[in-house]
Amino acid sequence: MYRSKNCGELRLKDVGQKITLSGWIQKSRDLGGLTFTDVRDRYGITQLVFNMDENPELCEKARRLGREFVIQASGTVRERSSKNASRSTGDIEIEVNELTVLNESKVPPFTIEDETDGGDDLRMKYRYLDLRRTPLQQNIIFRSKLALETRKYLDSQDFVEVETPFLIKSTPEGARDFVVPSRLNQGQFYALPQSPQTFKPTLMLGGLDKHFQILKCFRDEDLRADRQPEFTQIDCEMSFVHIEDILNTFEGLAKHLFKTTLQIELPDFPRMSYDEALEKYGSDKPDLRFGMAFTELNEQAKGKDFSVFDQAEIIVGFVAEGIAETYSNKDMKDLTEWVQRPQIGAKGLVYIKWMDDDSIKSTIGKFYNDDTLKSWFALMGGKKGDVIFIMSGETDKTRKQLNELRLEMGKKLNLIKPGYFKPLWVIDFPLLEWDEESGRFHAMHHPFTSPKKEDIPRMLNGDHETMKNLRADAYDLVINGSEIGGGSIRIHDRALQSRNFDLLGFTKEEAEYQFGFLMGAFEYGAPPHGGIAFGFDRLCAVMNGQSSIRDFIAFPKNNQGRDMMIDAPSLIHEQQLIESGIKLADPKK
Ligand code: AMO
Repeated sequence: MYRSKNCGELRLKDVGQKITLSGWIQKSRDLGGLTFTDVRDRYGITQLVFNMDENPELCEKARRLGREFVIQASGTVRERSSKNASRSTGDIEIEVNELTVLNESKVPPFTIEDETDGGDDLRMKYRYLDLRRTPLQQNIIFRSKLALETRKYLDSQDFVEVETPFLIKSTPEGARDFVVPSRLNQGQFYALPQSPQTFKPTLMLGGLDKHFQILKCFRDEDLRADRQPEFTQIDCEMSFVHIEDILNTFEGLAKHLFKTTLQIELPDFPRMSYDEALEKYGSDKPDLRFGMAFTELNEQAKGKDFSVFDQAEIIVGFVAEGIAETYSNKDMKDLTEWVQRPQIGAKGLVYIKWMDDDSIKSTIGKFYNDDTLKSWFALMGGKKGDVIFIMSGETDKTRKQLNELRLEMGKKLNLIKPGYFKPLWVIDFPLLEWDEESGRFHAMHHPFTSPKKEDIPRMLNGDHETMKNLRADAYDLVINGSEIGGGSIRIHDRALQSRNFDLLGFTKEEAEYQFGFLMGAFEYGAPPHGGIAFGFDRLCAVMNGQSSIRDFIAFPKNNQGRDMMIDAPSLIHEQQLIESGIKLADPKK
């Protein structure tokens, strides 16, 4: 037996017990007569004591132990004279009488402690060492618990777990595919699923009614903190449902997960239309943990000879509370430069300060008198001591830029309390998005999304402008400003699906080639259905108050999409290239 107890479970009540532990050496302190050694496993850290007077040979052996050596130690639990309150095993220590080195270790390239000194790439190269660190282990254990609770909840709601294939035909989710050559069908390729979207309706056609899986999806897109090329979705589909049924079921899932893993009871989730989200927050995933909602000022600000505002499509701003006196001219200049950086691209930033002595300080004082500007405070819910920030220009761009400023001010003013969660359903998305550059429509969610029932006649018969205003039965779950999930009621009618492909610029042949099987399937009694997918890695990160998903994935890729540990992607043998039909064999060989 390698161990009778683990390194996190011994307490005062165990004093006097003879036990055996196995684990890694965290660190040792040699105090001459006594050597203290910390041994660590997944469950915690326990202090071992070796006594030079009582057992010099064993003590010498302990002194030679290096960091990360794997050992087995047997001994007796005893009460510590100087206790360590920050450790769960801090009241006891083990008086060791037998020590076995199970394996030695090289000095690790970074310290294996909660706060490590390793850079990202180094930690990823030695991921197995990084995984020994408690914060990372806790993330991975959290993830495992979240998956288990997801299964429990969906099982309680009669969902059936069905695995769909990874070697498939391209699924349009807006990113590029990762492709896999077929040896048996030379010159042809599978695509790894960007999502299992095309299979979900077919499972509904198969009568499986409520389906889920927790699966990997693959998207060849630029990486960000909350994006990985392979990531995990909780993917679900249901038959005979309206939007309300889906939102209730998955609000139930989110509540269950928060309750069982974080012991947090979430109140009912508010809902906001896509249009309202853009008008009030300039984003389709607003962070509702703090206020600073937008107010449009077109009516108030135009026609007063300020040409910047007169020429703008939109003039919009928000109030930042209580900073009129504390934000200096230099702070304002820094903020202006911040919004003018190319990443945000604003032309400028207008501010209005209502000072404690009742005066107004503003960049636009020449054009508007103090009373007018004070009336803007009243309109926007501001007061003496506050600052109004305003941006103007083309509507979509200006709202996006002001959203960036709002988020930045939320951080700067410490408005985001840790451990606080604000979920939100964003609903009523547009069905199609017009892209000026390519001169075509894109599906705002994906091409299988149904328009709202009342919009179907307009979709079938309307003109180009009408198409821009169609609404979809689509929804996103947003938590703390992060898009956690998205889904829609699907089209289940061949003619309507065909029309959607038309609008998206597919020729009849292209639509038939790529999705003929699905449209064919619709002719065999397709039930009304809809579904949703949660980004599982994102959910883990957001629930733990983190913005990066990387440390919730056991083996993530770096910013160049590389797995630093196994060094992938990599070149493959010429023979493999030939066998898979990517390269022709050299006839001379
Ligand atoms: P969507 O494309 O919105 O919907 O994806 C669902 C959720 O998956 C997460 N996500 C990602 N997480 C990490 N890295 C990525 N690269 C990444 N891309 C997406 C997000 C997102 O909300 N088939 C539809 C679902 C449906 O209609 O049922 C779909 O995949 O959290």
